[in-house]
Amino acid sequence: MAANPTGVGGHEYGYAKTTRTDKWWVGPAATAFGLGLWLIYYVWSAAQGDYYAAGPYMSPFYPFYLHPSEAGMGASDAFFGMNPAWWPALISPALIAGFAPGAFRITCYYYRKAYYRAFFGTPPGCAVGARPQDYRGETFLLVFQNLHRYALYGALLLLPYLYWEAFQSFRYHGEWGVGVGSIVMVLNSVFLTFYTLGCHAWRHLVGGQLNCFSCGAVPRLRYGAWKGVSRLNENHMKWAWTSLIWIAFTDIYIRLVSMGVITDLNTWGGF
Ligand code: FES
Repeated sequence: MAANPTGVGGHEYGYAKTTRTDKWWVGPAATAFGLGLWLIYYVWSAAQGDYYAAGPYMSPFYPFYLHPSEAGMGASDAFFGMNPAWWPALISPALIAGFAPGAFRITCYYYRKAYYRAFFGTPPGCAVGARPQDYRGETFLLVFQNLHRYALYGALLLLPYLYWEAFQSFRYHGEWGVGVGSIVMVLNSVFLTFYTLGCHAWRHLVGGQLNCFSCGAVPRLRYGAWKGVSRLNENHMKWAWTSLIWIAFTDIYIRLVSMGVITDLNTWGGF
């Protein structure tokens, strides 16, 4: 007997078959395009190992990399394509550094739905025939997705670093100031915070395993935090995309400034 006989689940038997009459395929197609483009850009940019810093700005693709100011780079340099001496020349640190945030995104509950639909068609949409027909959910190898709660800790550790880099972007050669790049970096930290703190696993950590929200000061405190996290959680998809796009935009902006293609408007006189 067929796993999805006609009419069961609101769709006809067969991959992408459905009785739906709306444009259900637009979402998965846009997701495949957007995620695919982002991944190609990330791998390309991270493999470069160059143009990751300009003035006091650091690309978020290169966390824990040597900051130009620590390396004593000059103010007039438009290009800071250098590697720390201790790092193997052929391995871009951005590819390694992307492991923790990458694991966090890949195992995120929103992204699972997005890429299952967009890339694997399991199923491509609600009430649409899946591929393979004997879809068994998140079993076998996909059980590794349960590690999301641990990937969350890595993502949480990364946030203070991003704020530190954003803070450093307001100081150049001992002088406080502000530039377009500083604002871009601050927004990057904020969007990533909204995405990270809207995580389902974080919401459980903050407000889960409590039988009574009003019994005591700590449960009441946790209830307040849980409500805030829930608001972010309701918009998790929005913050997932906003932060993803902004990370790439931040990298592109800093790359273009460091290459001299565009000039950053700032109080230090431009670079
Ligand atoms: S569920 Fe999306 S980041 Fe945790």
